[in-house]
Amino acid sequence: MFLKQLSILNFKNYEEAQLELSEKINCFLGNNGEGKTNLLDAIYYLSFCKSYFNPIDSQNIKHESPFFVVEGYYQNKDKEEVIYCGLKRNQKKQFKRNKKNYDKLADHIGRIPLVIITPLDILLIIDGSDIRRKFVDGIISQYDTSYLTNLLAYNKALNHRNLLLKSFWINRNFDKDSLDVWDDQLVQYGNLIYASRKKFIDDFTPIFQKYYTEISKDQEEVALEYRSQLNEGDFESLLKENLDKDRGNHYSNIGIHKDDLLFKLGGLQLKKFGSQGQQKTYLLALKLAQAELIKNISEEDVIILLDDIYDKLDGKRMSQLMGIVGSGNFGQVFITDTNLERIPSILTEEKINFKSFKIEEGSVKDV
Ligand SMILES: Nc1ncnc2c1ncn2[C@@H]1O[C@H](COP(=O)(O)OP(=O)(O)OP(=O)(O)O)[C@@H](O)[C@H]1O
Ligand SMILES: [Mg+2]
Repeated sequence: MFLKQLSILNFKNYEEAQLELSEKINCFLGNNGEGKTNLLDAIYYLSFCKSYFNPIDSQNIKHESPFFVVEGYYQNKDKEEVIYCGLKRNQKKQFKRNKKNYDKLADHIGRIPLVIITPLDILLIIDGSDIRRKFVDGIISQYDTSYLTNLLAYNKALNHRNLLLKSFWINRNFDKDSLDVWDDQLVQYGNLIYASRKKFIDDFTPIFQKYYTEISKDQEEVALEYRSQLNEGDFESLLKENLDKDRGNHYSNIGIHKDDLLFKLGGLQLKKFGSQGQQKTYLLALKLAQAELIKNISEEDVIILLDDIYDKLDGKRMSQLMGIVGSGNFGQVFITDTNLERIPSILTEEKINFKSFKIEEGSVKDV
């Protein structure tokens, strides 16, 4: 499936635009603040029913306008599919596939697989463990439907257990039987999630390493390490051993809610010792591995959005990256850059088909 035509009305800084797109690579080129990333966001909307950058839907309507429309015409083998997203101020968002409204937006997500790579991905390296658990959870739940159910059940049990610990502390009492109810659930769901995450890291790591090696031309050795307290012993015994501590600070100190994914580069921590270009390469390899996994599972092409990737990447790595995304292994690609020449010249050199658009003050010109 690829996006043949994109039409937008009153979306962010665009009043009206219509783009005839290449099935292969599309470059959105122009100066800062002209609307390159906004076009990627419109394409993101059509896959995920929301903006990647601004979670408040109404703020994506062009200032002073009453509504926005983003419409995509996709070619799916020999069929055409039209995806429509419209929002009027103070009204519910309309999302349609082939003119038919969806009952639930969740039914649409996954139909047009897409992976976006932006400068914001750096948060995956520098932020706390929460964002890395979400990255892992997001991928696993795309192929394992019971995973999300288990995760929700785990979080519910964890919440109840923490409330109970708090109430013991406030009321200065303790009731082991009522705590056991939640412990049993934590152990049951926690072990399932632990096993899924462990298997995921084992399967994902070689794919990730393949992309890192390809982009860096084998410059550095990289590894992912799944860190979990459950690596140290069985969950049930760990809960028992930590009961006094949990009661002391009325919080559950043990469980898969404490898991983390460690990014290693040459045996060291990427966050502390990786250069900015190495960190960028790492993130690209993580996202490309994610795209490969989604493609294998969904058996659909995956659209790749690359926002400002030139930032921090040297010419050699950039050419390698263009070679990978230009090989057609994933699907259609959209790239933004402030320089009008450098990406087109790499693509021409690598003999990769592409189309360029010049973006200026919310308007689009074919180049
Ligand atoms: N709801 C909105 N209405 C009007 N303009 C908006 C709206 N939301 C964002 N913008 C404008 O869109 C412009 C930014 O567009 P975008 O992020 O696509 O730029 P860009 O070309 O990617 O720039 P850069 O090279 O700096 O990344 C800004 O000028 C911003 O004010
Ligand atoms: Mg931008």
